[in-house]
Amino acid sequence: MSEKKIIATGTPFSEDQQQWLSGFFAGANTRLLKQDDSAQSNNRPLTIIYGTQTGNSESIGDDIVALANDYGLAAELVDMGDIEVENLADIERLLVICSTYGEGEMPDNAEMLWEAISEDSAAKLDHMHFSVLSLGDSSYDEFCLAGRQWDTRLAELGANRVVDRVDCDVDFDDDAEAWSKAALDAIKETGSAPSGAASSAPAKAKKEKSQYNRKNPFPSALLSNKTITGANSSKEIKHFEFSLKDSGLSYEAGDALNVVPLNDPELVDSLIANLGLTGDEVIEGKSLRDTLITEYEIKLPATSFLEAVAAKSKDEELNRLLKNGDKEALNDYLWGRDIIDFIIDLKVNFSVEELMPLLRKLQARAYSISSSSKKHQDEVHLTISSVRYESQGRDHQGVASCYLADRVEENAKVAVYFSPNTSFRVPNNPEAPMIMVGPGTGIAPFRAFLEERESTQAKGDNWLFFGDRKKADDFIYQDEIEAWQASGLLTKLDLAFSRDQEDKIYVQTRMQEKGAELFAWLDRGGYFFICGDAMYMAKDVDKTLHNIISEHGKMDEDAAIAYVNDLKKAKRYVRDVY
Ligand SMILES: Cc1cc2nc3c(=O)[nH]c(=O)nc-3n(C[C@H](O)[C@H](O)[C@H](O)COP(=O)(O)O)c2cc1C
Repeated sequence: MSEKKIIATGTPFSEDQQQWLSGFFAGANTRLLKQDDSAQSNNRPLTIIYGTQTGNSESIGDDIVALANDYGLAAELVDMGDIEVENLADIERLLVICSTYGEGEMPDNAEMLWEAISEDSAAKLDHMHFSVLSLGDSSYDEFCLAGRQWDTRLAELGANRVVDRVDCDVDFDDDAEAWSKAALDAIKETGSAPSGAASSAPAKAKKEKSQYNRKNPFPSALLSNKTITGANSSKEIKHFEFSLKDSGLSYEAGDALNVVPLNDPELVDSLIANLGLTGDEVIEGKSLRDTLITEYEIKLPATSFLEAVAAKSKDEELNRLLKNGDKEALNDYLWGRDIIDFIIDLKVNFSVEELMPLLRKLQARAYSISSSSKKHQDEVHLTISSVRYESQGRDHQGVASCYLADRVEENAKVAVYFSPNTSFRVPNNPEAPMIMVGPGTGIAPFRAFLEERESTQAKGDNWLFFGDRKKADDFIYQDEIEAWQASGLLTKLDLAFSRDQEDKIYVQTRMQEKGAELFAWLDRGGYFFICGDAMYMAKDVDKTLHNIISEHGKMDEDAAIAYVNDLKKAKRYVRDVY
């Protein structure tokens, strides 16, 4: 990526200082672009801060910025990672939009601000008026926890809640819109009026937007669908290529592409047959069969569905698990069971009228993009492991992964839209070293990063840690990776195939072996990226990183934690984990 020079040459700053300042002003420029045009007018200032991992909170923030002027408010949308806790005390009107990640955790960009505001020494916020919108997914134990925590903490610090928090499930559009309007309406009269006359500053140019987005996905032609794991692999990983021709859409390496799937018609037919229905029943002008294929989640049961099954079937085990609050036991019981399993096993029946309110809306699935648009114009690539397993005596398939793998013909259209991941980016500085840890499909964004650095001829060192089970079958993108090694683009490559020898070797084993060098890369300004499994791999890699910093940086545990926190703050330690 060519870095735009923002600080003039000849200024009394060291190279490091220039780099930092360039980054700061570049950030300030982007932030300003997100201000409402009337930010300079007589409108009351409103700050909207967002905590996001995959862009939903940010896109709601964008919508509010566009709405705010109608309420006499000049809104500014700010990434939680770009604001210091001290600045919060100056804000009179604040809207917080925050998703929840991991197991009830803050999204990465919210972590540092959250830590700071949680400290006992955090300043009082008596002058602030606020409201919180939390995004989450009710299938997680800690539903919307991050947003709930923000709501509680702001009130604890003395801020005045103008509208009650709203906790949104995956189908958040309507709730988010209703909250936005209520919050803007309530907050518009609060706090002091702005001083000074309206400015005649010209409106800022808005970034041109494509007509396609989450609410109006782009029908993209599937150009290619190739299996890239070997015949003897324990899994099937596919490489997909989609066309963006005539979409007006663009993306950055690090972003995600959302695929809006269609349910498997055979599964829908089986569900309909097991319910004793025909499929021709009409729902809002559409047949039940078509409605179930296109609009509703028919695999993952919602809690309301489970409760209805428990009530109808009187099944002892399910009733006990739902009542006793042992979430772990309930999750174990639910693992691998889908909606049809309950209908078959517990012999329950639902009429169409009973069934529909118990189903969740079918959701798009987000995948980390594995291409750089600089290398593949008008194309976007994905690297997806097809989810297939047997459970309860039936074959099960992932909704979106198998929709793409098995049912979309070449050149047929797939509805897609992008989610930005603004913290997961190739560094602006083309010379900054990148350390990338991406086993399995976690390689996806790093293929994009390497393509990006190849296309821009960036000079920085690149180090990839990749692994899986067996080299012979699971070394995906082997030819490309080896070509990058040969060309020198990939400065270092460390491979960990866990089942090629008796001892299990993982990417973190390789990191530990190369600890001294890894620390040296970090210490000369390196960026550390992780992509892949959140449950085990990312945690083990994080632990190993702390150990390496402690051992090779000669730091005690607290100092190593502080070192890692500084990396996070500088966006030099970022994760894309799932
Ligand atoms: C890996 C992962 C973990 C998640 N963990 C939680 C959780 O613990 N609690 C919750 O309510 N939602 C959870 N979610 C759901 C997200 O909060 C939800 O999809 C939200 O709309 C994302 O918004 P964002 O794009 O602004 O980050 C999780 C989603 C993913 C992909």
